[in-house]
Amino acid sequence: MAEPKKRVLSGMRPTGRLHLGNLHGALVNWVALQRRDDLDCFFFSADWHALTTGYADTSSIRTDEREMILDWLAAGLDPVRSTIFVQSAVPEHAELYLLFGMVTPTPWLERVPTYKEQQQELRDRDLGTHGFLGYPLLQAADIAAYRASLVPVGQDQVAHLELTREVLRRFNHLYGELFPEPQPLLTVVPKVIGIDGRKMSKSYGNSLWLGEEAESTKKKIMGATTDPARVRRQDKGNPENCGIFYLHQLYSSGERVREVDAGCRSAGIGCVDCKKWLLEGLLPAQAELRERRAAIAAKPRLVREIVEDGNGRARRAAGETLEKVREAMKLGPLDEEG
Ligand code: TRP
Ligand code: SF4
Repeated sequence: MAEPKKRVLSGMRPTGRLHLGNLHGALVNWVALQRRDDLDCFFFSADWHALTTGYADTSSIRTDEREMILDWLAAGLDPVRSTIFVQSAVPEHAELYLLFGMVTPTPWLERVPTYKEQQQELRDRDLGTHGFLGYPLLQAADIAAYRASLVPVGQDQVAHLELTREVLRRFNHLYGELFPEPQPLLTVVPKVIGIDGRKMSKSYGNSLWLGEEAESTKKKIMGATTDPARVRRQDKGNPENCGIFYLHQLYSSGERVREVDAGCRSAGIGCVDCKKWLLEGLLPAQAELRERRAAIAAKPRLVREIVEDGNGRARRAAGETLEKVREAMKLGPLDEEG
């Protein structure tokens, strides 16, 4: 018999349109994983997680979610190969979160580094909530609901995975071996720099959106920060200090990348030419994403149908797990003799 497929699970908070950092940092990897026949992939919109910091204004969650899922589909996530769903449509996550809460010591949550960091960063909101403290425990429930063993995430999520493993170990110890220990799948993530020279991030306002229009892409690229040491055309540069160079690595041929590297270091090429070369690869790639996105968006109920189908598949999978959990905790149905 063939080995049972390993489950892969990952999620994103619904924050609206995705940028090229999200595309190359996560989505490209998700698309590659769904093609593997030894894996069974689940990808979801973490709308409850969005509430942990954004509970005060919930008005845009569903529109942001639709934009995000359209981007997933445009990037090539395939709803037949992957189960695409919404966290809050699968209440089993909440049940498991509650049960995990019973066995998780509060200090385990207080010492997760993102807990204090985010409270510092988002000082304008009151994050002294139960829900915010529980963020990583909800994430543990997301993963455990599918008994997933592989979790493709960025380095920033490693501490959350560590907590997940600790909670699952404790559960398995108390009630019997039910959950595999999930491993983070840290893939080599290419560097994607925003147009201001900092890491591409929605909150910095320096992003290139997935499938962005040609005119605005051009404008952003032509105005983008380059190696700050190249003030004049004749100054030699270091491509490693320039976001344009990292985009060349994603959108230009190997030969072109070598040409840029040498030309930048010798001041043989200027930044304007270098940027025009980048657009030769970037614009067609963006056009293709834009067209795929528009074709999906043009079908009025398609996204909804995809998600409803995924929600059903996810509920069946999570439902099976929860039945086992209730049984293991002696919380199953009342028996006749009882
Ligand atoms: N915390 C993750 C992030 O901010 C999103 C997330 C929620 C997640 N639940 C998950 C990722 C479960 C992987 C598995 O990116
Ligand atoms: Fe950046 Fe290209 Fe200018 Fe070098 S030549 S600094 S890589 S834009």
